[in-house]
Amino acid sequence: MISSGPSVELMAKLASPVQLGTRTLTSRFFLAPLAGYTHLAFRLVLRRQGGLGLATTDLVQATMLAAGHRKSLDLVETCHEDRPLSVQIFSGVTEDLVKAAVWLQDHGYEGIDINMGCPMAKINGSGGGARLMCDTRGAAETAARVVDAVRIPVTVKMRLGWDDQQITAPELAESLENVGVAAITIHGRTRAQGFHGTVNREGIRQTVAAVKSIPIIANGDVRTVEDAVSMMRQTGCSAIAIGRGAMLDPWIFRRLSEYAAHGSTSFEPSADEQVEFLSTHFHLMVQQYGDYSCQLFRKFAAWYGARLGVPEDLEDRLRRFESPAEFDGLTKEIRRRHGERACWVPTALVKVPNGPVSHW
Ligand SMILES: Cc1cc2nc3c(=O)[nH]c(=O)nc-3n(C[C@H](O)[C@H](O)[C@H](O)COP(=O)(O)O)c2cc1C
Repeated sequence: MISSGPSVELMAKLASPVQLGTRTLTSRFFLAPLAGYTHLAFRLVLRRQGGLGLATTDLVQATMLAAGHRKSLDLVETCHEDRPLSVQIFSGVTEDLVKAAVWLQDHGYEGIDINMGCPMAKINGSGGGARLMCDTRGAAETAARVVDAVRIPVTVKMRLGWDDQQITAPELAESLENVGVAAITIHGRTRAQGFHGTVNREGIRQTVAAVKSIPIIANGDVRTVEDAVSMMRQTGCSAIAIGRGAMLDPWIFRRLSEYAAHGSTSFEPSADEQVEFLSTHFHLMVQQYGDYSCQLFRKFAAWYGARLGVPEDLEDRLRRFESPAEFDGLTKEIRRRHGERACWVPTALVKVPNGPVSHW
């Protein structure tokens, strides 16, 4: 039960919609993009639990998308139920971002997010992702070109900067607002930090202070309702994006929406709801990927095991099953044995790319 006495101002903010350019979103809690995870099936199964304000696709390479490559089209596959949705694009070449943005608008998408935060060497090496933050003027010019090319809202996701010596987020946020970017998501780490160390909420607060009116969406290490509320209090952000926390606790958006409505939440999914979640996610994947889903689903096993109370031997089999029929047999057994393993939100079990950031 969470009832930490929210302030009147915070409750009023939570109860009111947030505006991303021309888009009005009724919940201020968004799904952050997680490459390899935030596919259509995952977005849909999360939406069905309630409370999700906006989802964003995995990052999509701009040139490949505009050229209609199969893998990119899979990443942007969507449907009516999958709304509101933004598509995240990346490239170090402005012209490619513009082409992809126009392609997305022409194909009926409602929001474009430009990746300026990805720390991976192969993306930074070609001038994309977090590399854009090293040249704030160039990054703002790039964003301006994309904003001018489309009528739909354009947002940016970034980090605090390249490293502790180059904290460029506040300056860049101000420039991006001036060129018409509708909102900015900021992961409160530098590129050099990768996923290590703590999120610098003061850095996020300074970015909030640097803009006049566009929403700043705070991101990083939000795993619980308390985390989200303290993030809003400490940074003054307008909304929150949750990535890994949504895999660790698929009901976090529902809990947050209850909190936004009543100032407290005590929601806990029943055993049936937990097994149903697992089964629905997999079967939605099968609709998109067929039997290949068996392989794709394996990496979710570690995230879901503890949270969904899957006994450890069955979690191990979730990493190895080979057919939808085998999966259905497994979920029957999980249902029967549910309760053998305590359900908990594992805050430590968080998988991130390993090794030095320069090698990713
Ligand atoms: C496996 C993985 C994949 C990610 N993929 C993307 C991506 O495609 N685009 C992006 O902007 N950020 C990506 N991120 C960063 C997350 O969106 C988010 O900024 C970061 O994980 C911190 O938030 P969290 O603690 O809520 O997960 C990824 C992170 C992880 C762990």
